[in-house]
Amino acid sequence: MKVFEIFKVKGNPVLLEVLIADKEVSVEGLELVSEKTQDASTEKHVPYVEEKEDGYLVKVGKEVAHPMTEEHYIQIIEICVDDFLYRKYLKAGSAPEAYFKVPKGKSVCSREYCNIHGLWNS
Ligand SMILES: [Fe+2]
Repeated sequence: MKVFEIFKVKGNPVLLEVLIADKEVSVEGLELVSEKTQDASTEKHVPYVEEKEDGYLVKVGKEVAHPMTEEHYIQIIEICVDDFLYRKYLKAGSAPEAYFKVPKGKSVCSREYCNIHGLWNS
């Protein structure tokens, strides 16, 4: 089963998300946005999760913060804790991070979407 796959509309900045699919999704005009995990460039994209007392802080760029200009910024940061998914929408000018005050879980993962460099997970 496929869950939470993100597709880009070709030639358009629109993103679409598939919540649940029993099989591979293939729709003309839509392109699957694959998740990247390693960042070889000087700017960092892989989300970094810090466990806090009452939740999780997710930063994009562990050593160097990702740019947040009108032209180039992080649009969403998500964290999945066990079977729950939480998402924050960001705007240019804000910090490339999100604090999620949520119950702790056994399994934690995160991903973010950069408007230029795409989807990244940790
Ligand atoms: Fe970027």
